[in-house]
Amino acid sequence: MAKSTSRFVCQSCGSVFAKWTGRCESCGAWNSMVEEAAPAAAPGGLAKRSGRGGKAVDFVSLEGPAQVAARMASGIAELDRVCGGGLVPGSAILVGGDPGIGKSTLLLQSLGRMAGTASAAGATGATGAASATGATGDTSHPACAYISGEESVDQVRLRARRMGLEKSAVQLAAATSVRDISATLDRPDCPKVVVIDSIQTMYVDNLESAPGTVSQVRASAQELIRLAKARGMTLLLVGHVTKDGMIAGPKVLEHMVDAVLTFEGERGHQFRILRAVKNRFGPTDEIGVFEMSDGGLREVANPSELFLAERGGRQVSGAAVFAGLEGSRPLLVEIQALVCPSPLATPRRAVVGWDSGRLAMVLAVLEARCGMVLAGQEVYLNVAGGLRIAEPGADLAVAAALVSAASGNPVPEDHVIFGEIGLSGEVRPVGQQAVRLKEAQKLGFRGAYLPPRRQKEARGSGLKELRLEEISHLSDLVAIFSQNGR
Ligand code: TYD
Ligand code: MG
Repeated sequence: MAKSTSRFVCQSCGSVFAKWTGRCESCGAWNSMVEEAAPAAAPGGLAKRSGRGGKAVDFVSLEGPAQVAARMASGIAELDRVCGGGLVPGSAILVGGDPGIGKSTLLLQSLGRMAGTASAAGATGATGAASATGATGDTSHPACAYISGEESVDQVRLRARRMGLEKSAVQLAAATSVRDISATLDRPDCPKVVVIDSIQTMYVDNLESAPGTVSQVRASAQELIRLAKARGMTLLLVGHVTKDGMIAGPKVLEHMVDAVLTFEGERGHQFRILRAVKNRFGPTDEIGVFEMSDGGLREVANPSELFLAERGGRQVSGAAVFAGLEGSRPLLVEIQALVCPSPLATPRRAVVGWDSGRLAMVLAVLEARCGMVLAGQEVYLNVAGGLRIAEPGADLAVAAALVSAASGNPVPEDHVIFGEIGLSGEVRPVGQQAVRLKEAQKLGFRGAYLPPRRQKEARGSGLKELRLEEISHLSDLVAIFSQNGR
């Protein structure tokens, strides 16, 4: 007779305990235990199953033919870019993000474009799962299904109308039972692309825990992913980000899917960024940039223009344009700094959009190697537009903004800056300099402050219109901006 019938599962890391505790011993999260019914019988080990031997598995060499299904265009070029060139049939993609950021909008828009327009007869008025069919016979428009667990059919229709997609041939259903969804989709003519919005609302009826708990999320995702692999569907799962920034609480979901995309953005700003955190089929450093408008999300093909759009024509001190790189794409953003005397014993240092440790390093190098006095000064740093930059190549632009803010001399507004700073104050080259400079030239900039270039790079780069000023040591930069003018 089994005695214990319940167990306690940490909703943050998925660890299982026999007793409730206030704090999870494995991940340290507070108040994250949820009681669940233990499975009736634990799966036995190999030894228990007598009578049948296993079947030997054949080994093959790494070289050989590989069956790769062609990728499908998702209807949104920025989404294709982040996925590494389109959706892979049979793959599962998790799209995470804060509530209200636009996940449902993005996926409905993608499906709407992929599915094409419904033929005049038939599809109108089709509700529920019973009408799901993949046999449209039209290969350029794969059959697409949108299963909403959060919103009613009416709500999704309203949204579709708002985005001008009401005529699109997307098959819409409101369902939360994985058993029902599985019964609907597990057939040869299943839709080619399925969106589940969201995985936290789905439940498997042989588990007793509530939807949204670790066990339910894990079991539902497992079942849906198995189905997607078996039928060659592309599965797009929406996952909410929890308070501490993890998708669906447990990390377990991230291991199960082929790609994890996060959709981020500041609420006060119009633009949204789609990033790949994990991708089995492509690079993870590409970003997709969107702008939220009245009619859904608008793709931004040239993000630099968006991030520099709010720059007034005035020359102000404390602002420098950083020529950065996100994935393979150049991205120009403005870095702003403010330096002012502090009444506090420990002056405040606040950073938005950049690493605060890195700021401390740049400040230390400015003080120790260039003789700037910043003690007793408050320092604020902001990446305009709400973007987050992780590149060390922004060091020189940050330093320029700081020096300019402290001295009151503006950085020439038609110049871009990039370069990494070492602890001795030397300026080091960064990758893809030519790409950055080309973008600056394209956007009408006249010059650049950059690390010393090698002979080979300097020759024949086709950048005649740019005035390039090489900075080999941080003190050279300080000398330029701390004097009056250049
Ligand atoms: P939504 O896709 O519902 O977010 P999520 O699924 O990530 O929770 O996005 C909702 C927000 O987007 C909402 O605040 C309104 C805004 N929005 C627009 O500005 N324009 C639009 O055309 C749509 C559909 C939404
Ligand atoms: Mg939603």
